[in-house]
Formats: sequence, structure tokens, C-alpha cells
Amino acid sequence: MESASDFYLDRALLEWQIELGVTEAIADVPIDRYALPEAGPAKRKSVAPAAVAQAEPTPQLDPVQVAKSAAQAADSLDALKQSLGAFDLCELKKGARKLVFADGVPGARVMIIGEAPGRDEDRQGRPFVGPAGQLLDRMLAAIELDRSKNVYITNVLPWRPPQDRDPHSQEIAMMFPFLERHVALAKPEFIICMGNISCLSVLGKKGITRMRGKWEQAFGLPVLPMFHPAYLLRTPSAKREAWADLLDLRAKLIS
Ligand code: URA
Repeated sequence: MESASDFYLDRALLEWQIELGVTEAIADVPIDRYALPEAGPAKRKSVAPAAVAQAEPTPQLDPVQVAKSAAQAADSLDALKQSLGAFDLCELKKGARKLVFADGVPGARVMIIGEAPGRDEDRQGRPFVGPAGQLLDRMLAAIELDRSKNVYITNVLPWRPPQDRDPHSQEIAMMFPFLERHVALAKPEFIICMGNISCLSVLGKKGITRMRGKWEQAFGLPVLPMFHPAYLLRTPSAKREAWADLLDLRAKLIS
């Protein structure tokens, strides 16, 4: 008979697959069930009672602590990218095609922090390359910024969440040490937080409609919250405020 813990494990695995968008339960190759041995009670290895008594409990890893140590050990952006690629404690990694680390010019005066990769970013491994990214490029061009020349871009999360759902607070907390190190290594002068998730991670609060356009401080740097370009695509009337924020950034850059 199946034990209760097998049941809960199986159920959790099934729910995870459903969250990833799995709709059919078929394997790569068909299974000939007539050729399989008769199903019987699973034989468990007998474990000597002394071994059971001495077995050490598996230490639970604290993902935030592991992330902190891994991020701190990275002494360059390349090393940080490698360290992120080796970090296995965030479940999002399992459902993503690619790690989306950053794009643009490291060391640029402006660093943009978005939310998480979407479908296009997940395929290409670069942030902001889908429709929202194309709008972002046009917004930046309006104030003479260009990711191939003078802007650096990353996200709060380097992996696409299943079905583009909002990131969970544990995921944001777990990836924050990497973001913090990313900023320290990229050394921008100004940070732009695109949307609520970015504000939540960087500033610890959300409410973008109230916060946008008001400079804050984080990582010892000036931070400007702005509407996310995906929101601007859905709400063109908000472009007026976004334009005002861009002009404010431009004024800071030339002052
Ligand atoms: N939205 C984001 O926040 N980041 C991306 O990279 C793409 C869309």
C-alpha cells in the first residue's frame, strides 16, 4: 500500500506540473504495460535498527542564506551569472528554459530593474525583448538612452514564473541577495524600478501609482519607481506620467 507521505509527495509533484502548464500525461515513448512484471508490494530495503537510531536529520538549507553566500563570493558580473546558474534552490529554475541575467552596458549610469522574464525573454535569455521591452527601448530612446550604449538592464527574478504568474514573496526574498550583488558589481549611479514587483524587492514596498515619480534611496543610490512598460501597453493613458518620469531622469543625468 502507498504510504501517506508518498501520496502527499505525488500530489505536490502533480500540482507543480499543472502549475507549469502540463495538460497531458504522456511520456516520450509508449510504455508496454503487458511487458512489465506484475505489480506487487514494493520491497523496501531493511535498515538495521542501530542505523536508524544513528541517522542524522538532514539539515534544512535556508535558501536566503545560501543565496547570500553564493552572491557575496562572486567578484565579477560573469562570476555572479555563473553563481546564479548554479543556484538550485529556486523552483522557478526548473520550469524555465533559460537564465535571464542582464543586457546592456555594465557600468552604465542607469540600471533598470524589471520584474521577471516572460515568454520571449525565456526563449532568448535576455531581459525585456518582448513587446514590453520594445516599448521600453522606445521610452529610453526618447531621452537618448540605449541599451547598446548607456543603460544596463536586469530583473528581480532571472527565471520565468510558470504562466507568467506574480512572483511569490519567498522567491523575491531568495533572489534578493543576487540582485543586491548585481547592483554592487554593475555600479550604476541611478536605479529605475519598473513596476510593483521591482519596488517590492528593492524598496520593500509597493503601490506604484502613489510611488512613481518620487525618488527614493536603496543600495545607497537614488531610485526612481516608474510604471512598468507592460502596464503602459495596457493603459496608454498612463504614458503621460511615464514621460514626466523620463524627463526627471534626464534632468538628473545632465545636471
Ligand atoms: N517584463 C519584465 O519585467 N522583465 C522582462 O525581462 C520582460 C518583461
